Amino acid sequence: MRAYAYAAHGAANVATLQNVPIPDPPASSSTLQIKVNACSFNPIDYKRRSGALKMIFPEKYWPVTLAYDVCGVVTKAGDKVTKFKVGDTVYGRVSTAYPNIGTCAEYTLATEDVLSFKPQKMTSEEAAAVPLACLTAFQMLRKAGFKQGDHILITAGAGGVGHYAIQLAKALGASKITATASAPKHELLKSLGCDEVIDYKSQDITKLFKARPFDIGLDNSAESAKLIKVVKEGGSVVSVVEGINSQTVREMGGNPSFLIGWILYFMTRSLYNAASKARVSYSFMRLQTNSKDLDEISALIEAGKLRSVIKVFDGIEKAPYALAEVEGGRATGKMVVKIA
Ligand SMILES: NC(=O)c1ccc[n+]([C@@H]2O[C@H](COP(=O)([O-])OP(=O)(O)OC[C@H]3O[C@@H](n4cnc5c(N)ncnc54)[C@H](OP(=O)(O)O)[C@@H]3O)[C@@H](O)[C@H]2O)c1
Repeated sequence: MRAYAYAAHGAANVATLQNVPIPDPPASSSTLQIKVNACSFNPIDYKRRSGALKMIFPEKYWPVTLAYDVCGVVTKAGDKVTKFKVGDTVYGRVSTAYPNIGTCAEYTLATEDVLSFKPQKMTSEEAAAVPLACLTAFQMLRKAGFKQGDHILITAGAGGVGHYAIQLAKALGASKITATASAPKHELLKSLGCDEVIDYKSQDITKLFKARPFDIGLDNSAESAKLIKVVKEGGSVVSVVEGINSQTVREMGGNPSFLIGWILYFMTRSLYNAASKARVSYSFMRLQTNSKDLDEISALIEAGKLRSVIKVFDGIEKAPYALAEVEGGRATGKMVVKIA
């Protein structure tokens, strides 16, 4: 089968379309083989490919097939699979049990604990956009202690995570949603439920919001220091980009050396100190993929409360263009590759 994969870390050109064997689920397992209808890319794909994460998460197997998000049809199931059967259309964020078997391929593997049934309301392309980014937004809200009536600030509101975070905050009862984006994306964000959009290129949130009106800040753009300054005392800031220390790396299954631990400590201590001084709870979060949260997201999709903003690249041979658009850092919503 064809897969978009790389056998060494490096720039975009290390990843190519390759012929690799179709992966088979172990017979006595809860693993499914999925014929991929569509996959989508996230920033982790180019960060991992570049080698930026290798000190903390060294690769165990090569080649690595790109992409984590999938929507596709079950073609084989291990004996211990109970929830799905051959022919079901499923979606999810894979690559936990099989770290080098990604989704930008004609077939992939996933254990059933990370999969849900594709929402009826979505096409395969729309569903393939959801798992990693939307689960991240969902879990950030939970980690931040989001409650009905909160005023929330979301940075990079037009990105994969941000555009779902806006819709989730709306669906879960935020009193006011403020997000940052460049000016051409403001109308889109308002159509997703944003009450106020700030053009981060011309305005500084720390000057605009000196009164610290926000209950919660979600940082998708490495701007934790600014968010800590505008969230009210007793509020919380959750970042998925910075604030990583040895404890969070261990929670993610990594094994930081003493030296890496010290480097991370020195890189992040000013953020944790600033948060403590401002009496704001601050934390880094890493997505924990699981079907329970994805089922809750599916229910919101079926209720018409969540949609995917996508750009579709038709055919696996277009995958490098889709990933390049994410790597450019200006993508709106999610970049999806239609494979079947
Ligand atoms: N820890 C985790 O588990 C986890 C999970 C998911 C994602 N992440 C990380 O979270 C970050 C966001 O992910 P993503 O998928 O949302 O990325 P993305 O889709 O690539 O984000 C692109 C968007 O970010 C906007 N943007 C860039 N810099 C901005 C800034 N300073 N202020 C406002 N908007 C800005 C761009 O809008 P403009 O064109 O308007 O600039 C663009 O629309 C990435 O660093 C990713 O690696 C971490």
